[in-house]
Amino acid sequence: MFNRIILLCRPGFEKECAGEIMEQANLQSFPAYIQTNEDSAYVSLVSSNELNTRELITKINFRQLIFTRQWLATSKNSLSLPETNRLSDILNTINTFNETFYDVELDYADTNEGKSLSKFCKQFKPHLVNALKKHHLLSAHSRWRLFLFFTDSLNVSIGISAVDNSAPDSMGIPRLKMPGSAPSRSTLKLEEAIHWFLPATQQTQLIRNGMSVVDLGAAPGGWTWQFVKRDCLVTAIDNGPMQKELMQTGMVEHLQTDAFTYAPKKKVDWLVCDMAERPLHVSRLIARWFTNKQCENAIFNLKLPMKKRLATVHECIDLLQQKLTEANIKHTIAAKQLYHDREEITVCILITTKLFHKNTKKKFPQMNADERRYNKL
Ligand SMILES: C[S@@+](CC[C@H](N)C(=O)[O-])C[C@H]1O[C@@H](n2cnc3c(N)ncnc32)[C@H](O)[C@@H]1O
Repeated sequence: MFNRIILLCRPGFEKECAGEIMEQANLQSFPAYIQTNEDSAYVSLVSSNELNTRELITKINFRQLIFTRQWLATSKNSLSLPETNRLSDILNTINTFNETFYDVELDYADTNEGKSLSKFCKQFKPHLVNALKKHHLLSAHSRWRLFLFFTDSLNVSIGISAVDNSAPDSMGIPRLKMPGSAPSRSTLKLEEAIHWFLPATQQTQLIRNGMSVVDLGAAPGGWTWQFVKRDCLVTAIDNGPMQKELMQTGMVEHLQTDAFTYAPKKKVDWLVCDMAERPLHVSRLIARWFTNKQCENAIFNLKLPMKKRLATVHECIDLLQQKLTEANIKHTIAAKQLYHDREEITVCILITTKLFHKNTKKKFPQMNADERRYNKL
């Protein structure tokens, strides 16, 4: 019986993750309550009257959940496993689902305790996959992914979520390699943002040779580096120094000035911003760039060092929506706490609404090559 949803999040962001899923459950008139522990890196939404959460996770758009990395519909009761021959108990539970699965993901919380299960999960997965194959439980046509969420090696919650309405990467964590020549680890934040917000098939159209970019708070240049790599011309605004090698590409103009007073001479294709400034302050600045017709698209961070993070996020996104709508600018806003984000979220605004990932009534298989690569059995 699916009467609970487990949602994985960044440790310390359980309250925000819980707040968001409750808002969505309320919108669906789904009576439920939350169970979570501080810094546990996961949250449970439990049905108050035994309603089916399997349906609920197809009604809520996963992409609307800013603080959720991954989710699964499962039972209130986790399964206690024996020390040996865990597989047969697991298969017994899986058989009660009466489903086949596109693939299987083994998860644990993003905590030190959780991470200690990584080796166990890696070793256990091939055995599970073989057993699933043997019992004809894997099918390329299934819309469901099977999940095993371990709290320790003898306790597991088994569940499902729709392949086209969940994170494509295991535990919502993209495996990105730090590029050797990039000036800072922040570069991975922008790379992840590009992969998350821009559909793979349109990335090379949306960021391409010769496009103009303004990077506010650019130093030492990790974000700028991502655009230079894609042959764009970047104006980097920061009083701090930019990486020498990046400047030697000839693709970057560095202006040592204040990002809040700088204005471009003409409209740029991309505005990006990664400054540690108050989120409302940044939101007003970004809104101004759009309403002054100074940029076509934007990706930026909102830092969240305050207590009321969810309320702040709502306030910022409402402000952006309102300002752009008042200016008659057709746009789509999406926000996510990316894996590489810390106490912050990343926001993407595209003027051309068509370009966003659509949700998701499409029939599977519909994953792109990147997504498949990350999810190989
Ligand atoms: C987190 S760092 C940016 C890192 C950069 N995105 C990267 O990938 O290397 C933030 C930068 O914002 C700059 N900054 C903060 N406030 C600024 C302002 N008002 N105008 C210009 N730069 C600012 C800081 O100097 C700092 O270099």
